[in-house]
Amino acid sequence: MFAIVLVGGFGTRLRPLTEHAPKQMLPVCGIPMIEWVIGHLADHGVQKVGLAMGYRPDAFVDAYPDGRIAEIPYQVAVENEPLGTAGAVRFAVEHFQTEETFLVLNGDVLTDLDIGSLVRFHHDRGAAATIALQPVDDPSSFGVVTTNRDGQVKEFIEKPEQSFAPSNNINAGTYVLEPSVIEQIPAGRQVSIERETFPKLAAEGALFASPSSTYWLDTGTPQQFIQANLDVLKGKRNKRPPLPIANFHQSSIITESVIGTGSTVGVDATIERSVLLNGCQIGSKSTVVDSVLSDEVRVGEGARLESCVIGFGQRIEPGEILIGERRPDQDSI
Ligand code: GTP
Repeated sequence: MFAIVLVGGFGTRLRPLTEHAPKQMLPVCGIPMIEWVIGHLADHGVQKVGLAMGYRPDAFVDAYPDGRIAEIPYQVAVENEPLGTAGAVRFAVEHFQTEETFLVLNGDVLTDLDIGSLVRFHHDRGAAATIALQPVDDPSSFGVVTTNRDGQVKEFIEKPEQSFAPSNNINAGTYVLEPSVIEQIPAGRQVSIERETFPKLAAEGALFASPSSTYWLDTGTPQQFIQANLDVLKGKRNKRPPLPIANFHQSSIITESVIGTGSTVGVDATIERSVLLNGCQIGSKSTVVDSVLSDEVRVGEGARLESCVIGFGQRIEPGEILIGERRPDQDSI
């Protein structure tokens, strides 16, 4: 089966991490997110992948020059300007000349979803489009879906206020589509699959949805990105890669954190619920909590970072206290 993976977004909520690399190239426990996404597809019988790209397309091609990601061959469709989640699907289907049932995935969702069973569900109902559903506690920042008993979608409401959400089942960002669906997507402009295409298909009775309650995480915000790393660390996923090799002083206190290769943590430093990418240096007696540090960040002695996202190569002065700050990459100042 062929899968189109959407990787063309700017990833604004993860800035400055996404100024340096597209979201899907950020490492989750040392492995780029795209390898987690495509590796999962490989485990479920997908033989070929098309990357629907826009922002920083070279980053993928440079990282995987042999035309394979997680052992699956990939092709690329590069939009000249962002076409939105549905516009990108239309562009990719035309570019790849897709003529059979295909999958679409948001490239920033990590899941252990049983894709084979989603595809069977789709064919059993003769659906034009089928979306995977996931129950969440707060559906207000997602597309909320209600169905009848057979799985036919009655309502698809993008980002309702929590008190108005008619269900806790949300669009999980994995779809099975028939090529005919692209006729419903206007050409040559930005089109959102969540705001335009799915509500329209639902109104026509052509949209189905299949519930699942397996591992699922949207990685779009810094806290969700930290969570993605911790979930792998704690063994909540099917796979657990070898952890990166970092160097901690034995007096340091490190809890619920992933520290990248070549990073060092000094005497009496504390790292809590944080992700440090590669080559970071954490000075003695400093504290990093609920934060993400990009590659090669240096934190001076006795500094404190809380709920921060720090860009590539930044220097945090000794004793500096930062709460809720986003510092851009050093080279973009
Ligand atoms: P934010 O700017 O933080 O909202 O992130 P984002 O740009 O990634 O947007 P969002 O999380 O809504 O996107 C969901 C998925 O669709 C991600 O995998 C994006 O890379 C992808 N995506 C979003 N917009 C486009 C687009 O215009 N073209 C393509 N090819 N992919 C897109």
